This record gives sequence, structure tokens and C-alpha cells, in this order.
Amino acid sequence: MRRVVVLGGEGQLARSIAYVAQSSHNEYVMLSRLEADLCDIASLERAVECADVVVNCAAYTNVEAAEDDYDGALRVNALGVKNLAQICLSRSLPLIHISTDYVFGGDAERTTPYLESDAVAPINAYGRSKAEGERALLDSGCGVVIRTSWLYSPWCKNFCRTILSHSAERNVLSVVDDQRGVPTSALSLARFIVRIIDEEFISSMRGIYHFTDLGDATWCDFARAIVELSGHDCRVDACTTQERAMRAPRPSYSVLGSERLNETNTTLTPWRDALREVIDIIERNL
Ligand SMILES: NC(=O)c1ccc[n+]([C@@H]2O[C@H](COP(=O)([O-])OP(=O)(O)OC[C@H]3O[C@@H](n4cnc5c(N)ncnc54)[C@H](OP(=O)(O)O)[C@@H]3O)[C@@H](O)[C@H]2O)c1
Repeated sequence: MRRVVVLGGEGQLARSIAYVAQSSHNEYVMLSRLEADLCDIASLERAVECADVVVNCAAYTNVEAAEDDYDGALRVNALGVKNLAQICLSRSLPLIHISTDYVFGGDAERTTPYLESDAVAPINAYGRSKAEGERALLDSGCGVVIRTSWLYSPWCKNFCRTILSHSAERNVLSVVDDQRGVPTSALSLARFIVRIIDEEFISSMRGIYHFTDLGDATWCDFARAIVELSGHDCRVDACTTQERAMRAPRPSYSVLGSERLNETNTTLTPWRDALREVIDIIERNL
């Protein structure tokens, strides 16, 4: 049995890993920020002491706040990741690090998914800090980067849970319809991560991989699907990004595709099917 240490243990992806890893033959240990802080080298060294594999789900994920706190985002998403990579390298520990579609800056004219080999060009502070983290990790020669997009889960604050609660209380919602990406269940990504560890793909994986659910959507499409599956009596109107006063610019098109997932024998789940599972779990726990 191997010991898999997961950082960012209280976030939605780590919770999803804990959920799917219940049936794993390996031991998955979730560590909160208090137990392993990316900004505290000593706590990272302690955290990985008994690890056989490390998964980094920890990140500064507040896209809006990062605009005014780029140094804070860099400290966690770039410097913290660099420190973690060096610690893992010095112990020859496999490291899986999660990154984002927001390293790309897709304009509205783009119609083809971003592949692993495409150059990054982030347009907001969060995306820049995550791109720096990827670079630091790849330069260190340690670890695998998995980019994903538009994560949601039955746990923590996320778009799906927000739309579920708003649509239960209101008759009309207005949701941005000019940003396109791939809604991805954190449970789908968690299953992928657990499978590449448990089935030993990780030992031969190198560099960057894109993992999302299948298909694409705007936030408005995504919200409509959530409302439809929940059965809430709420209309979802389309609005533009410009109508929303957001601090951070968002890519109009950040659909990820993959030219490398075939190395891992992976079948993707259509995003609406993945959404149904998350809503079922939320409804069962209500
Ligand atoms: N959410 C998305 O839509 C999305 C899309 C693409 C990629 N990603 C990436 O996917 C990964 C997982 O995201 P998520 O949605 O699960 O995020 P999340 O729910 O916000 O969880 C992130 C966790 O990291 C912790 N954290 C923050 N700073 C830390 C530090 N210095 N040291 C240790 N832990 C720290 C947070 O703890 P506190 O609560 O104490 O701050 C939180 O528990 C991240 O790398 C993110 O960039 C997310």
C-alpha cells in the first residue's frame, strides 16, 4: 500500500479525491493548510516525510482577489509550488500538480480547444501566477502538471452550488453567455488522479496533461443545465461579461482539449452526465 499525501485538503478537489479514494488500495491522506502550508517550507518537509506520492490541490484560487494581491497569489501559486517541487525532487517523490485553463487567454474568435503544446498567455493575475507555478515545477524537472477547467463539486463554494441555491430562492437569474469553457466535475478529475496513481501510470507521465469533462458550454449553458437538473422553477437569462463588473478579465474561450490523455487510457465523461452525479450527491445530503 502506498501513502498519497494530498495538499489543500479542505478544498473541493481534495475532498473529491477523498470521496473517490475510499475504494482505493492505497492510503490517501488529506492535509489542510494548517498542516501543510505552501508558504512554509518546514511544514512541507514534514508533510511529505512519509509520502510515496504527493498531489498538490492547494492554491490561491480567488481570481478576483488576485488582481489586487498578485504578490499573495505568486507566493502560493508560484513560489510555494517551486518549493514543493524542490522538496519532492530531493526525495524522488512523484508530484501531481493542478493548473488551470486560465493560463490561456482565448479571445472570442477562437474555436479550437487549447492543447498541451499551445503557448500560455494569461490575461489575469491568477492565470499569470498559475503559469509561473507550472514553469517553476517543469523547470525543476519534478512532477506532472494537470490542467483543468471550471471545477465544481458537491462540496465547498463553487458555481454549481451557487446556482443551485440562487435558483431555489429566485425566479430569474442572469448569467454570462460569452465565455466558453468546459465545466468539469471535481469527481471526474479526482477519479483520473486516483486512477493514474493506483494503476501506476504516474511513473511514466511527464510534463503537462489536460483533463476536463467532455464537451463545452458557456456559463449560461452550464447554469441552465444545473437549474434543469435540479427541477427549480427559475429562468436563466443570458448576459454579457461587460454587463458584469468583474475585476479580473476572463478568457472568452478557454476550452481545453488533449493530445496526450491517450497515454493514460482515459475515457472522458460528457459534462452533463458528470453534473447529474454532483447534483444527485448534493440532493441526497440535503
Ligand atoms: N475551481 C476551479 O474552477 C478551478 C479551475 C481550474 C483549475 N483549478 C485548480 O484546481 C486546483 C484545486 O482547486 P479547488 O477548486 O479545489 O480550489 P479550492 O476549493 O479553493 O481549494 C484550494 C485549497 O487550497 C488551500 N490553500 C490556499 N493557500 C494555501 C497555502 N498557502 N498552503 C496550503 N493550502 C492552501 C485553501 O485553503 P483555505 O481555504 O484555507 O484558503 C483551499 O482549501 C487548484 O490548483 C486550482 O488552481 C481550479
